[in-house]
Formats: sequence, C-alpha cells, structure tokens
Amino acid sequence: MTYNFDTCPSRLNTESVKWDRYAPDVLPLWVADMDFQAAPAILAALQRRLDHGVFGYELVPQDYYDAIASWFSRRHGWEGITREMVIPTTGVIPAYSAAIKAYTRPGDRVIVQTPCYNAFFPAVRNNGCREAVNPLVCRDGRFEMDFEALEELAADERTTAMLLCNPHNPVGRVWTREELQRVGEICLRHGVFVISDEIHCELTRPGTGYVPFATLPSELVRNSCTCCSPTKPFNIAGIQIANIIARDPDVVRRIDRAINDNECCDVNVFGVAALKAAYNESEGWLDALRDYLWENERLVRETFVRELPSVTMPALEGTYLMWLDCRSICPSSERLADHLRDNAKVALCPGSWYGEAGEGFLRLNIACPRSTLLAALSRLLSGLRSFRP
Ligand SMILES: Cc1ncc(COP(=O)(O)O)c(C=O)c1O
Repeated sequence: MTYNFDTCPSRLNTESVKWDRYAPDVLPLWVADMDFQAAPAILAALQRRLDHGVFGYELVPQDYYDAIASWFSRRHGWEGITREMVIPTTGVIPAYSAAIKAYTRPGDRVIVQTPCYNAFFPAVRNNGCREAVNPLVCRDGRFEMDFEALEELAADERTTAMLLCNPHNPVGRVWTREELQRVGEICLRHGVFVISDEIHCELTRPGTGYVPFATLPSELVRNSCTCCSPTKPFNIAGIQIANIIARDPDVVRRIDRAINDNECCDVNVFGVAALKAAYNESEGWLDALRDYLWENERLVRETFVRELPSVTMPALEGTYLMWLDCRSICPSSERLADHLRDNAKVALCPGSWYGEAGEGFLRLNIACPRSTLLAALSRLLSGLRSFRP
C-alpha cells in the first residue's frame, strides 16, 4: 500500500499547539508533533469507537497488552512482556514523573543528560528533586555520553535516579547496546534507578532499529523501567496514552503506587483503540513514514551543505527533530529563534530550552509535507543570513 504524506489537512484554527500558538503567517516547525494524518487503521478504529457513542469508564482489555507484547517482540526483539509488567497511563510525562516519585525522595538528585527534552526539568523539580546534569559531548559531529562524569554523578549518595532518553531528543542519537550497558552498569553499581524514556523508539533511520533498555542483561533491567507510547510515531499525541513497563514485580508495585498517588492511572477510551490499531495494523504506514522523514532529513542536510555550510548538524539517527548548530551565527538561541519567528516567519525551538548545553542550537521539526519543509527552509536560510548580532 502507498501512503500520501505530501498532502495534509490544514491545522490552522484547529486549536493546534503547533499551528495556533504563533501568528498564522508563521510556519511552525517547533513542537514535536507531525502534520500528517494518523494511519488509516487508526482512523478507522477511532471511527468505530466513536460510532458506538457511549464513552463511559473502560477496562483495559487483554488484547491491549497483547498488542504491546507482540509489537515489541516482532519490531524490537523485546520478548516476554506480560500484562503484569505494564502500567497504562495518560502520557510519557506522567509515566516518568511517577517513576521519579517512586524512586526518589525530596532533595535527591536525578541525572539528566543535556541538551535534553525540556519537560524533564519540571518533572524532576515537581518531585522535589534537583537535576544532576551530565552534558553530552560532541565528538566529530556526534553526541556521546561522558561516562566518567556519569559515574561521578551516580556515585553521589544524593543521586537516586537517572532519566535516560533513547532515542535522545534533541540530539537525535539512538544509543548503542554498549552505551546502554555502560549506563546500566554504572547506575546499578551506585544504586541509581534507570527510567528509560523510549517515546521516540519507532522513529529510527530506515533500515536501523533501536535497542530497548529492557533487552540488556536481566540484573540491569530489574533496576529500570521503560516509558513508551505509540503517540509520537503514529501522531496521536493529543489522544494521550502511554505505558510504563518493568520486569521486576516490586518495581511495578512501587511505580503503580506512585501513579495512583498522582491520580493518573486511568486511560482514555480512544487511546486504547488507537494503540491497538497502531501496533496491530499500522506497521506498513510507519515504515513508509520513516522513508519520508529521512528524505526530508536528506533535503535539509544537503540544503545546508550547499547554501549555508557554517550551520552544521549531527546525523539524525532517531526522532524527527534535527539539531542545528547555529553558534557561528548567534550565541543566543533565544534571540535567533525570535528573529526567525518575527522576521522570517518560521518557528523553531531555541536550543536553550533543553538546558545550557543547548545554547547556540536550534531544534527543527521535519515531520511535515515536503512542500512545507521547502518553504520553511527558504525562510530559514534567509532569516539566518539576515540575522545581525
Ligand atoms: C522525550 C520525550 N518524552 C516525552 C514526551 C511527551 O510525552 P507525552 O505527550 O506522552 O506526555 C516528549 C514529547 O515531545 C518527548 O520528546
């Protein structure tokens, strides 16, 4: 089956965060959702659920758990997920927030590797903790973890948890098995619980996969939980559904307690229907989407090499978020993003949103039709060229 990602319904005036936050003449390539309609099987499943017309409280059925287990087994080699290992919830943010609550006490430190997803910071703070920041290091244009610094932070007795992002938003790395294993070993050695946010795990360069943290050796897995969701790859973030998965029954119990304390343990009836249709029936759509996204990535990369080589970017291994190094143009990403939005009419995220280590970078969301991307690229180039510090 072929899918058309070139044409999408207009999202202007649909209460879209992405499209309706700024003036209507601004092309928004900022917040992480896509402009594409969801896969046909998901639309059909939602329509069937809607046609029923009754939307009372719903149990999470066995086939929901079966869909998750089958998906992760066949797509990612993660075997043996059972119902008892899964806690459904309303989003990945509530998921990792509950895990932080379960594994820290106020005053503790939680490791984050910056630049990192901006909503990691409030989740740490809202649980009364502080971030222990381990900036990623860029070597030959590729971001890597600083394992020595990680070990030092983990060894601090105030450090009790680590928020891992795999694939990593915003630098686009898909961590290797070796890297994940080192993280797992360091954290286990120092009694630091690993919370692995894998929301972007389906969005990897075509032909490549990702390594679920839960496929590491079992002693490392027992010291972790995974937060995942079909919302990013299938563009159903507004439907709000996610899962926490943990192998160890004690871990499940502890996080279940925290998620109940936070009162976010019920799910949306549409979320259940959408997840099943995504995992059971939308594999072909997802693969076609990845081909399309990485054509977009190639277009952006080649355009910058040709037109503005002083702006560089690491290879995009995962996510649909490109990380543009604009330090040669302006050291302040906020000023640059404001200029681009107000004068060039294109909205990107300033890198400073993702921690100090993101200063001087911009995050570009390429999950849009090619025509939108081409128009945005032209505005972006002229905005970058016209910027005067
Ligand atoms: C790494 C990461 N985690 C979590 C989220 C948000 O998850 P949710 O909308 O399910 O709360 C995002 C959204 O961009 C993200 O990039």
